[in-house]
Amino acid sequence: MRVYVINGPNLNFLGIREKDVYGENSYEALCNYIEKEAKKLNIEVECFQSNIEGEIINCVQDAYQNADAIIINPGAYTHYSYAIMDAIKSVNLKTIEVHLSNIYKREEFRHKSVTATVCVGQISGFGFLGYKLALEAVAMIN
Ligand code: DQA
Repeated sequence: MRVYVINGPNLNFLGIREKDVYGENSYEALCNYIEKEAKKLNIEVECFQSNIEGEIINCVQDAYQNADAIIINPGAYTHYSYAIMDAIKSVNLKTIEVHLSNIYKREEFRHKSVTATVCVGQISGFGFLGYKLALEAVAMIN
């Protein structure tokens, strides 16, 4: 099975940005973790990150031909990007949304996810572990 793991804006700044919220580890460490966990589950992963909405949409569309499922952390786009939501809906692939932080424990504007409305489910608040849980979920539901 082949899975696209898509991370949105500012996730390349992990280990630099708001360490109290997102932890000390870098984006590179996150990718290494995802690749290691995917291997254990016999999943082939493609990790992609962009700060640009259109590039995230292009990657979701690319998954249509090249992946069996999507794991996505759309960053702040989660809360207002109807364009990313439409892209996820369009490709009709099982998609799981992940957030490092518990978005429901934070500011009011983070409590709403427009993208999760077209996902199988959402994992929020478990840090890096959330991506492993999402990999396990895609392996079990696909
Ligand atoms: C985030 C939560 C979002 O609200 C925020 O804008 C992010 C990261 C998370 O992983 O916890 O950039 O998606």
